[in-house]
Amino acid sequence: MAANVSPVRPAPLDAQRVRADFPILATTVNGHPLVYLDSAASAQRPLQVLRAVEEYETHSHANVHRGVHALSQAATAAYEGARERVRRFINARSTREIIFVRGTTEGINLVAQAYARPRFKAGDEILITALEHHANIVPWQMVCEASGCSLRVAPINRRGELELEEFLKLLGPRTRLVAVAHVSNALGTVLPLKRIIEAAHAHGAVVLVDGAQAVPHAHVDVRALGADFYTFSSHKLYGPTGIGVLYGREELLASMPPWQGGGDMILTVSFEKTTYNELPWKFEAGTPNMSGAVGLAAAMDYVESLGLTAIAEHEQHLLGLATAELARLPDVEIIGTAAHKASVLSFTMKGVHPHDLGTILDAEGVAVRTGHHCAMPVMTFFGLPATARASFGCYNTEGDVASLVAALHKARGVFS
Ligand code: ALA
Repeated sequence: MAANVSPVRPAPLDAQRVRADFPILATTVNGHPLVYLDSAASAQRPLQVLRAVEEYETHSHANVHRGVHALSQAATAAYEGARERVRRFINARSTREIIFVRGTTEGINLVAQAYARPRFKAGDEILITALEHHANIVPWQMVCEASGCSLRVAPINRRGELELEEFLKLLGPRTRLVAVAHVSNALGTVLPLKRIIEAAHAHGAVVLVDGAQAVPHAHVDVRALGADFYTFSSHKLYGPTGIGVLYGREELLASMPPWQGGGDMILTVSFEKTTYNELPWKFEAGTPNMSGAVGLAAAMDYVESLGLTAIAEHEQHLLGLATAELARLPDVEIIGTAAHKASVLSFTMKGVHPHDLGTILDAEGVAVRTGHHCAMPVMTFFGLPATARASFGCYNTEGDVASLVAALHKARGVFS
């Protein structure tokens, strides 16, 4: 994601030192030291995040926005402090633009149900790409079913890149919303987001970006990108599960009705009429995930302490090394060879089902994801049932790449 790399060169990442922050990496699996290459599914958490959550749970927990007592105030300060931390992390204009959700999937569903569904009608179009994973397909199909609008899909090429010219041709006066991944989870392709957003805006369409696979690997500035909505999950950013963020431009969020009803999203309730709370709480019905928000804020502190540019450069080095090594292996095919990729290496081994391959790798202590990666249309495009996918994080090393290659040699021996 070179476009976002800062001109100031940071110190290179010392992955061995980073590893000391992640106790789980000392785990032994099937008699081998764990080689964790599945951060795209869920990254591990550093002690700094685990301790922040423990500190909150041990000393500050109560319900938020609901009490004058000291602990409720402490919990509210921690939760709203986390919101401000998120705002700074993505450079949003205001905390009114930061909605805490369960994760990327919920962020997309919120926009689908509260922005798209009430205002789209037959003749309107939602444009996505053939790279999307299910969370950025199915919510739009549900909107189409409910409203009569249509889903258009921009194609990809055999390298796994968006066919930008085709995408641009699909944009038109009917396009109301464009929903795209920043980085493909199945292939690692980095999409030309600025170009997509500028073109969509030129046609009057609103853009939602699924940033789940981007935020751990590059500095994301939602205002510089010009995104209308940007959503991501904490657990791929070294934070806890069950919490994520939906950023939305304030004018858009203010124009949307609430999605879920309940406590905290109201100002007054009577049987005759309910009035809704201000942003951002209008979209946060019920008791929120306070410890998750605190953990997410700590994860943001953590990655910024390492330096997102340093993380990105380290991961690019590992991706390049692994790509070169796997390209040399007989019977291994790399799926997704885009010019711009981030941190993901999908591959197959001739004659071996990816699930069997994953099992052999696991026997060697090497954790990769195998399957369709919640992106069945991508697999269909390549004529595959599944791939094996190695993904890199700040704690991976050249030794991890060597272990993957050695395990693949072993798998080749088992199946030949
Ligand atoms: N979307 C997650 C992945 O790519 C779960 O593995």
